[in-house]
Amino acid sequence: MRISNLPGQISESKTLAITALAAQMRTQGRQIISLSAGEPDFETPRVIREAGIQAIEKGWTRYTPAAGKPEVRKAVADSLQRDFGLNYKSEEICITAGTKPAIYESLLVLLNRGDKALIFAPYWVSYPDLVKMAAGEPIILKTQEKNGFLPTKSDLEKVFAEHDLSCVILNSPSNPTGTVWPPDLLEDLVGLCADHETWILSDEIYGQITYGGTLHVSPAEIRGGRKLTVVLNGLSKAYSMTGWRLGYLAAPKDVTKAVAKIQSQMIGNACTISQGAALEALGKDHSKERNEMLEAFSHRRGYLLERLPNLKGFSLRAPAGAFYMFPGVQALLDHQNWDDERFCMEALQEIGVALVPGSAFGFPGHIRISFAASLDDLKEALHRLETWVTALWSGSKLAN
Ligand SMILES: Cc1ncc(COP(=O)(O)O)c(C=O)c1O
Repeated sequence: MRISNLPGQISESKTLAITALAAQMRTQGRQIISLSAGEPDFETPRVIREAGIQAIEKGWTRYTPAAGKPEVRKAVADSLQRDFGLNYKSEEICITAGTKPAIYESLLVLLNRGDKALIFAPYWVSYPDLVKMAAGEPIILKTQEKNGFLPTKSDLEKVFAEHDLSCVILNSPSNPTGTVWPPDLLEDLVGLCADHETWILSDEIYGQITYGGTLHVSPAEIRGGRKLTVVLNGLSKAYSMTGWRLGYLAAPKDVTKAVAKIQSQMIGNACTISQGAALEALGKDHSKERNEMLEAFSHRRGYLLERLPNLKGFSLRAPAGAFYMFPGVQALLDHQNWDDERFCMEALQEIGVALVPGSAFGFPGHIRISFAASLDDLKEALHRLETWVTALWSGSKLAN
């Protein structure tokens, strides 16, 4: 029997082999430390969990309007104002089943077959495939580590001159680098998008996770940016709610309406119970819980920034946001004659530390280390890494 061509055009997750091996090794009793997770290691705050239970008790167990319950859309609009200074009306908000569907449904609305979507590398793993699934063409602009993983103004001008871009996918703070776009570069981008009638899909899922006073700025805040930006966000990271599958988008009304129309045929509506939890999460100020989480992330980030530079052959830029480090390891790869995938496989097998290769993010020669793991785990992982890396450089074998 025939199936469509689409699955063949979508890449298998590069992390899958490592995740599968890690799971297999655990069943064999190996102590695996996972620094590959993209989700906070904290519980969803209790009051939010309780709001989910109350939603069931209240009978929030039925279909809702495709764009979400009106009070939840209003809570999102209020939280965008409170937390990000963004001014949206309820009718410009669509509640989705996670940020991923918000991105995909927006792409379905903004792209016609063959339309081009600009993606900056290193990129979050899903962007190129989501663009392909929306019948678009990903255009990858590789940034440079020495420029802080940001494009320069002339990089932007060049890519806009070379390609007729329908949209640009922006992720600030970035997964995997933690890079935060500065306002002046956002102004350059908004200016080019306005001149070329190009949309900005702004994935702001790490917008509330920044360090050292770095401020997250949305392109929707930049003069002229609001009318060409779709703001994408969700509760997975900022409220530690990955499993609840609750996201949203804020955009000019026509785009929001079109997304809701597509959503009405695709998934119906976001889970009602999760909408109840979101009403609690976004309808009230939970900065206390968030600050506790941020403090823990900040502490772990500080620890890694102290330890990682001691590893010979590692180059490192301090992330301004999110919860990942993205060190370059090319010198060590050259020494070993490995690529980054082999490096991660060896690290898992030899020292039981699960990492993600940079090539999964379109940026080989690097590895992603998540610090959504306890400080104890990070300490043990760094101890193992340091010993192993020293042994690799000296050509000696580790005693098992
Ligand atoms: C940059 C980025 N965008 C979107 C998502 C997906 O978030 P959600 O769980 O809301 O679908 C992730 C999850 O890892 C992410 O890192």
